[in-house]
Amino acid sequence: MKKHKSMYAIGTSVMGLSLAGVMLLGGPQDVQAKKPVSPAQAEQERQELLKAVLMGDALWHDGSLGTNGLACGNCHPDGSASNPHTWPKFQTNLGKVGTLREMINWCIMVPLEGKALPTESDKMIAMEAYATFMHDGVPIALGKDEQHGANPVAGGAGYQLPSGVTDLGAP
Ligand code: HEC
Repeated sequence: MKKHKSMYAIGTSVMGLSLAGVMLLGGPQDVQAKKPVSPAQAEQERQELLKAVLMGDALWHDGSLGTNGLACGNCHPDGSASNPHTWPKFQTNLGKVGTLREMINWCIMVPLEGKALPTESDKMIAMEAYATFMHDGVPIALGKDEQHGANPVAGGAGYQLPSGVTDLGAP
């Protein structure tokens, strides 16, 4: 107990010192709390995100992303079974704890027989944005491999919900 207390004291004094340092230097701007955005700015940010989701939607249904004509949507209708809410996690095909983006690349390379995308590329970010959008409102379930239905409201008609799922949240 005593040890914990002194560790805490050291921690706070180190923090105090670095705070003092920041104050002496004038302080980096980005340390400050974010100011609330105006409604117009918020709308613009939403539109930017929407563009990424729509680009991702197109890529998930693009038969020329790989080399054999298959598209992600052939096996993952409406982004289903991509489980963006469970990553990072151990994935047998990756053989390690990996990220959603690494798994997207695995599917580009293996089922689609294509070339991996740079993980920070606009295309990869868009593919992640689409999968996440389709699961908007699904609670994070780190590492779980349960298959959760994609969002039928965002995805439109044609996707059958797995039985027992009653709440997918609002899109
Ligand atoms: C021919 C069918 C097929 C196609 C096409 C396909 N996948 Fe997959 N996908 C799979 C299989 C099989 C798995 C592995 C399932 C497992 O190991 O549990 C998988 C797993 C995944 C996972 C991980 C799911 C999880 O929770 O572990 C993601 C994410 C994913 N695919 C995304 C994509 C994307 C993006 C594309 C298009 C680039 C794509 N898939 C194309 C069959 C396919």
